[in-house]
Amino acid sequence: MAARSGHLGSLAEPMADATAKTNDAPADVLTIFGISGDLARKMTFRALYRLEARGKLSCPIVGVAIDDWDDERLRAHAREAIAGSVSHPDQDVFGRLADRLSYIQGDYGDAATFERVAKAVEGHSRPVFYLEIPPSLFATVVHGLAGAGLTDEARVVIEKPFGHDLASARALNGELCEVLGEDQILRIDHYLGKEPVMDITYMRFANSILEPVWNREHVSHVQMTIAEDFGVEDRGRFYDAVGAMRDVIQNHALQVLALVGMGPPTGNHPDSIRDKKLEFFKSVRTADPGKYVRGQYEGFREIKDVAPDSTTETYAALELEIDNWRWSGIPFFIHAGKDMPVKASEVNVVFKRPPRLGIGEGKTPEPNQLTVRIEPDAGARIRLFAKKAGEEAFEPADLEVLFEKVPGEDPEPYERLLDDAIAGRSQLFTRQDAIEETWRIVEPLLEDPGPVHRYKPGTWGPEEADELIRGICPWFDPWLP
Ligand code: BG6
Repeated sequence: MAARSGHLGSLAEPMADATAKTNDAPADVLTIFGISGDLARKMTFRALYRLEARGKLSCPIVGVAIDDWDDERLRAHAREAIAGSVSHPDQDVFGRLADRLSYIQGDYGDAATFERVAKAVEGHSRPVFYLEIPPSLFATVVHGLAGAGLTDEARVVIEKPFGHDLASARALNGELCEVLGEDQILRIDHYLGKEPVMDITYMRFANSILEPVWNREHVSHVQMTIAEDFGVEDRGRFYDAVGAMRDVIQNHALQVLALVGMGPPTGNHPDSIRDKKLEFFKSVRTADPGKYVRGQYEGFREIKDVAPDSTTETYAALELEIDNWRWSGIPFFIHAGKDMPVKASEVNVVFKRPPRLGIGEGKTPEPNQLTVRIEPDAGARIRLFAKKAGEEAFEPADLEVLFEKVPGEDPEPYERLLDDAIAGRSQLFTRQDAIEETWRIVEPLLEDPGPVHRYKPGTWGPEEADELIRGICPWFDPWLP
């Protein structure tokens, strides 16, 4: 690979510009390992197409996989994948994208594969390597790249899952860091690329009416729901080894709760939010197996590649406690599951009940709630209470706002994250310190998972999960459009 040309800044420029290792400069070539896989077919080509349509791609794209394909076969595959995931694709846009694509066949364990990659990216000085491959191959590929002299100026994007517990996450990172610096590793959690997840930070800190009440004086508890109205389908092998805790709670749910619970970010630098999230994670008490309930929907064990006696959870509910001034004593509840009644992802911040007064027939009003809906139809709702017309009673008076202003126009998670990886923006990727904290938080639940309770498909999980939250409030039905 050609050496990066040096640049001596003028006297007015800070010295760092001329000397620092730059991992925030735009990439000039994107190489995707695992280009023939499922994730690429479902997500990556669509994301690349959308970036191309917005004029955001300017570099060549090299696909690598074991399959015996050539450039034309890759382009045909891309065409098919895009036809299946984009409605009415524009042929000019596709043509421009196809012109960028080239293919390298190779085994990831073979040094010759990386020599071929080196040849394909020759003349480019800032590569991004995107690894959408089985996690057991992450370190092999990164070391193969290093062996071919390709990692010095590279950024490497790593798909989830990053480890399956604290020890394996540390071990994987140790292997990657033999040849890469932390600032070269971009760990994906696609939830962080969702527009409404980013909206949480804006809503919290752009509105001064919220911060004074966002604490244990005013909040009674927080609930997060990630419900999906479909089962594990054709992902039996993957899911049976993983379960709901590792699939969506250790990563997606905890990342969202950190944005809800963290302190205000300070300073305009790429780590300001990640620093605050880390501070939040550090204050989350290591989870208590006594406050953890697991469920499995009936029929899960009959799915292809799932063990007939599997005890993997397809539903999980837990309570977390936070040890800091803002949240001490305020429980954060999470529940997430497959084959629930609806597909919905939301966070509810539930405020303390007002006292019973001489209005509303002497009843105690219900607590106010602020709900952030991630999907469907991202938005926020503040539930106030007003007088019911003609009666001396309370009734909900909701203030609702939808975040999406131009339907279909928001960048989608993979589109945004690939764009950021190419551009050298790291804020929406997960740092190793945060990954280790999240594994630390859930570790006792992995070690001592307790029994798995059966539930009927299309229901809200096992009754035992209601016990977990009883005495505080029921689980809320999601706010649906
Ligand atoms: C993935 C999980 O990370 O997130 C899936 O592996 C889950 O099981 C998905 O369905 C949920 O994210 P989204 O964006 O598809 O709702």
